[in-house]
Amino acid sequence: MKALICEGYGPIANLVVKDVPSPVPGPKQVLIEVKAASVNFPDALMVQGLYQVKPPLPFTPGAEISGIVKSVGAEVRHYKAGDRVIALTGTGGFAEECLAESAKTMPLPAGMDFDAGAALVLTYCTSLHGLKDCGHLKAGETLVVLGAAGGVGISAIEIGKAMGARVIAAASSDDKLELCRKVGADETVNYGTENLKDRINELTGGKGADVVYDPVGGPYTEPAVRALAWRGRLLIIGFAAGEIPKIPLNLALLKERSLVGVYWGESTRHDPAGHLANLHQLNEWFAAGVIRPVVSERFPLAAAKDAIAKIANREVKGKIVVNPSYRP
Ligand SMILES: NC(=O)c1ccc[n+]([C@@H]2O[C@H](COP(=O)([O-])OP(=O)(O)OC[C@H]3O[C@@H](n4cnc5c(N)ncnc54)[C@H](OP(=O)(O)O)[C@@H]3O)[C@@H](O)[C@H]2O)c1
Repeated sequence: MKALICEGYGPIANLVVKDVPSPVPGPKQVLIEVKAASVNFPDALMVQGLYQVKPPLPFTPGAEISGIVKSVGAEVRHYKAGDRVIALTGTGGFAEECLAESAKTMPLPAGMDFDAGAALVLTYCTSLHGLKDCGHLKAGETLVVLGAAGGVGISAIEIGKAMGARVIAAASSDDKLELCRKVGADETVNYGTENLKDRINELTGGKGADVVYDPVGGPYTEPAVRALAWRGRLLIIGFAAGEIPKIPLNLALLKERSLVGVYWGESTRHDPAGHLANLHQLNEWFAAGVIRPVVSERFPLAAAKDAIAKIANREVKGKIVVNPSYRP
């Protein structure tokens, strides 16, 4: 079978597609024929050796897939060959076949296609956990989403609306903001051309935002914190801009603001029941048409490294996926 291989940490352009042996499932694993593998920001960091997780070399990147079960390990009871599934794999996804732990595999919800299935769990679970469990977002509150047209950003807009918030989407281009409005944002800020803090204050009548969802970091975080209302909450999701901002703590004191870290993957280990409840909620919202993963582009396996480069270059809207069996 063919797989995208990272032979050494370095430029994304060095990734190669090679023929490798089919993996054999261990006792608690399933072997999946990959139909779609979505691209997430950490994929780009991981192959460059810039992520907190550094897999032993060589390895195949790709953390989130959907596909059809080919075979299962001796102790797997819930899946059988032919089942349509979603799996969080950590690595291995950009390949024709991929192993997954059965505990990190779930059935593809009815009515969901493979592309949407591969684009759902990581982003939407992060946003639901962040907004509900960490941010305690309430109906009627104002939510500002930074990097709003990206993977987690789009999911935060949809979930914010589903929770009854007024959502202000902030992104770097009008083109990206058009997508944000399409998925439900009430207002937008182009932080490429507008002053983020002033615009949030203007849109909230000087009160400020109740919650800021920040997957970007860099120069955007401090103005967003300055535009938080009394007892507003900053949700620290990630640092796609590359720089981890340093915030003067008097900004927290002055308005009893909270700076709240969000680490979805780790939270599922601390609170597995809460994670299952969130998955259930997402399934319900999907079935009701409240959330719809936005897959903006599809790539064959041969172009998987172009897809990873695209996310590193700030060029992705919503999610992009690799379809290993797609031959253009
Ligand atoms: N904490 C958690 O549990 C958790 C879970 C999932 C993801 N994350 C993190 O969340 C972040 C976003 O992930 P994602 O998959 O949504 O990525 P994404 O689709 O690439 O979105 C990130 C957004 O950041 C903005 N950005 C600003 N400067 C950038 C730069 N120099 N390079 C790239 N993007 C830049 C871009 O929007 P504009 O062009 O509009 O500024 C982009 O749309 C990543 O840091 C990821 O590691 C954290």
